[in-house]
Amino acid sequence: MTPTRCDRSPAWSALQAAYKMQGQAFDLRQAFAQDADRFETFSQSAPHVFADLSKNLIDAATQQLLFDLARQTGVEQHRDAMFAGEKINRTEQRAVMHWLLRNPAPAPVDIGQVAIKNIAYGAPAKNLASALAQVHTTLQAMLAFAAAVRADDTITDVVNIGIGGSDLGPQMAVLALDAFVAPGKRFHFVSNVDGHELASVLQSVKPQSTLFLIASKTFTTIETMTNAESAKRWFLRQGGTDIGRHFAALTTNVVAANAFGIRTTFGFWDWVGGRYSVWSAIGLPLAIAIGADGFREFLAGAHAMDEHFRSAPLEQNLPLRLGLLDVWYRNFHGFSSRSIAPYHSALKRYPAYLQQLEMESNGKRVDAQGETLPYGTAPVLWGEPGTNGQHAYFQMLHQGTDVVPVEFVAVKQPKHDLSGHHGLLLANALAQAQALMVGKSADAGPPQGGAASSGGSEPHAMGERGGNVLSGGHKNFPGNRPSTFLLLEALTPASLGALIALQEHRVFVSGSVWGINSFDQWGVELGKVLAKEVALRLSSGNLTGLDGSTAGLLARLRA
Ligand code: F6P
Repeated sequence: MTPTRCDRSPAWSALQAAYKMQGQAFDLRQAFAQDADRFETFSQSAPHVFADLSKNLIDAATQQLLFDLARQTGVEQHRDAMFAGEKINRTEQRAVMHWLLRNPAPAPVDIGQVAIKNIAYGAPAKNLASALAQVHTTLQAMLAFAAAVRADDTITDVVNIGIGGSDLGPQMAVLALDAFVAPGKRFHFVSNVDGHELASVLQSVKPQSTLFLIASKTFTTIETMTNAESAKRWFLRQGGTDIGRHFAALTTNVVAANAFGIRTTFGFWDWVGGRYSVWSAIGLPLAIAIGADGFREFLAGAHAMDEHFRSAPLEQNLPLRLGLLDVWYRNFHGFSSRSIAPYHSALKRYPAYLQQLEMESNGKRVDAQGETLPYGTAPVLWGEPGTNGQHAYFQMLHQGTDVVPVEFVAVKQPKHDLSGHHGLLLANALAQAQALMVGKSADAGPPQGGAASSGGSEPHAMGERGGNVLSGGHKNFPGNRPSTFLLLEALTPASLGALIALQEHRVFVSGSVWGINSFDQWGVELGKVLAKEVALRLSSGNLTGLDGSTAGLLARLRA
């Protein structure tokens, strides 16, 4: 049955009315002053992640309407269909089962029976149980391979060649879990077809001590194949002989990997989307970096979040609450972007990872039935680790003309013992969230710590009551700018797994409310096709039929 489109649901109309009545004039400072329990009411614990949602422009009644919206648009049924293995990716006729990759094995797999090489999956699994058995057979083989590489002192460098989901996930995670990475191994990620990237890595490695991982779900992506061919040529030119030992492929297309000359392959399945594939064989660089136990913890953290998403009531379901907040901001407040502010330097690729997750999943202008949508979908995501972002673009977040919700991530326990740093880092994260909310009028003193969180009523905290205008000037901070604060006890494989699964499910929720297929990416096709054609024209010089701009640029490049 086709679910009700969100803008045709009664809850949508009720939310529009709520926005007009109180949403657009909602004032966070007032909300805290009037409700001493606001922090508790709008906080949510989930596995490994505590979320403070209280600094968002939302009240309990609006949140209830958003839960109604979720019910009326069939989010729970859609979620259950995903967890039942139904083919909810309709444009590609595929199930969406990245969550199965982190499901514990029903029974231990006997590693003695598992051949490490050419782990592939002939026949598609008949049911979830056999798919899960295949998952664990592959996982065992991949982890055994990872253990062997870790134990092999002659391999000092691991070069992952892949792009999009075959790069961002493992790269983000290897960097994030740097504190857990085995000493003696260096990890490199080559994604760009720009030869500068590969050339610079090749200058720093030696063929006899390097393992190349060719990561591509399809094994056809032009950037990855071009880089892989160049790496192979370089390897042979440098006197490398044993491709079987120095190259492995992570792919669903084992046939193409074999044709490339790679004999060691770890596969996965068409029901794993590229941007959801870090849990699969695509995670091999991470498994080598943090070891089998670490990788299993990463999966377990994500699984705990899966169980939370699957079973927690809507009112206490963190991915659901975040996804609904995203809809509230995008479609009622009209906010078109979200800034990601991880206060941990190891999370430097987390914003880029989330960009693909959110924008490739939900950057769609038609619904799952192909009907053009009259409402906005994915926001633009962007960000940098704090405190760096503070000295670059936070000016705009505090005083710019657009309101941009900010999503902080902070980690309680550091992994270093340098005194003074971590407290300062955490203080900065808290202070930025506080400053965005409380603001400051030009004539007031600096914000007082307890003003908002204690429900206090200092004048500066109330400066915007009834509207968004403080008396003018460059020293005014309007405040009332929303943020979410995610807090991890420590950055570990388990908490990172949970955080990423949380983000996956939150994207699922908003996509589901919007009625779009979050699991295809047809929007990348046109550019790929045209790039091939332009490449031919670049060498032939044939400009016939081209638009004036492309023809002009091509001519200049050939001159
Ligand atoms: O072009 C987009 C895309 O298909 C992404 O969805 C994917 O993560 C990336 O390209 C890489 O694809 P592959 O893993 O098949 O090389």
